[in-house]
Amino acid sequence: MSKKLVFPDNFLWGTSTSAYQVEGGIDKNDWAEKFPAGKACDQYNRYEIDFDLLEELNQSAHRISIEWSRVETEEGSFNQKEIEHYKNLLKSLKRRKIKTMVTLCHFTSPVWFSSQGGWGNSKSPFYFNRFACLMIKECGDLVDFWITINEPLIHCSKGFLTGNWPPFLKNIFIFKKAVKNQILAHRKVFKNFHKLKKDVRVGIAKNNQFFEPYRKKNVFDKFSCFLSNYFCNVYFLKKINRHLDFIGLNYYFHRRLKFPYEMRNKDDVVSDLGWEIYPKGIYYLLLQLKRYNLPVYITENGLSDKNDELRKDFIKKHLLWIYKAIKKGVDVRGYFHWSLIDNFEWDKGFDPKFGLVEVNYDDFSRKPRPSFYYYSEISKNNYLTDL
Ligand code: BGC
Repeated sequence: MSKKLVFPDNFLWGTSTSAYQVEGGIDKNDWAEKFPAGKACDQYNRYEIDFDLLEELNQSAHRISIEWSRVETEEGSFNQKEIEHYKNLLKSLKRRKIKTMVTLCHFTSPVWFSSQGGWGNSKSPFYFNRFACLMIKECGDLVDFWITINEPLIHCSKGFLTGNWPPFLKNIFIFKKAVKNQILAHRKVFKNFHKLKKDVRVGIAKNNQFFEPYRKKNVFDKFSCFLSNYFCNVYFLKKINRHLDFIGLNYYFHRRLKFPYEMRNKDDVVSDLGWEIYPKGIYYLLLQLKRYNLPVYITENGLSDKNDELRKDFIKKHLLWIYKAIKKGVDVRGYFHWSLIDNFEWDKGFDPKFGLVEVNYDDFSRKPRPSFYYYSEISKNNYLTDL
């Protein structure tokens, strides 16, 4: 007999995207020179088509980001036409009765900002706050949830420590400064948003990873996990937990540590990118978030799976563990799958296919994958059938 796992009333069913990855036509940010996304999915011109898909997917929420470099192309000069574009897009979601979650910084910065040192510059919280406050004044009535910064530690470590992403630095001192500036920027925006608008909800999208000792009883393996967990999952949230209305959790990674290495089981199920699929990790991470006593939204969770062979099972198993965490008292209020459509996967380009919907990059047509219909049923029913 199959059992129905019913999610709480008003649980939000959504998908996530970000501007640079889907919009196209963005050439004034710090990625564009080395990693141009060109027309991406041309969502800038086709958002109505994508939002029709959201309706077919029975979505109650959707996450986008506003591209700072479109709005503030040059320092201090704001482009009203682009602001109107985002307002129209948000209005279109509202007309469809879809709740809106908007990220203000999803890995990209305007060139004028990065050429002054970007997040390494002590003026960065001021610049970011100025842009953010303009956005809430312009679009505040159309946004249900604000995310200040997407995955701050990933953003700073790839940009300032390992040097794979803009601004391609490998400098621990600037890395530390960038992290500190993102903490300050988040707090500042949180405070100002609460001054500017009643009932506003401001959060962060935090990439947390599940660390497990390879040898369960080995003290070195256990200690490596303790430290990794602290720096990767706890540190940033501790710094901002009094400035949060909710926590956004992005879950992708399970790591088994065998001091001083990371191990992988040969028979692990992996996505097209070789990333291990480990649904139970989301359960442990959710239990860990309980201590903050805040509502939690899964702001991202997904996989690259071109042939859509694993996605259905991936969704089912992650939702099952989310359900179990809810039963253990974690206040999870929504799930946003990454992603609605295939998109530009940063330094990996267009090869990875994270979409519930396939995009043909020659004519920009969209084609739902079979898992799209599976997720659509769950979103419609608000329950999962545990087969
Ligand atoms: C990011 C997304 C990215 C996804 C898959 C997340 O870390 O926020 O922008 O596409 O992971 O790699």
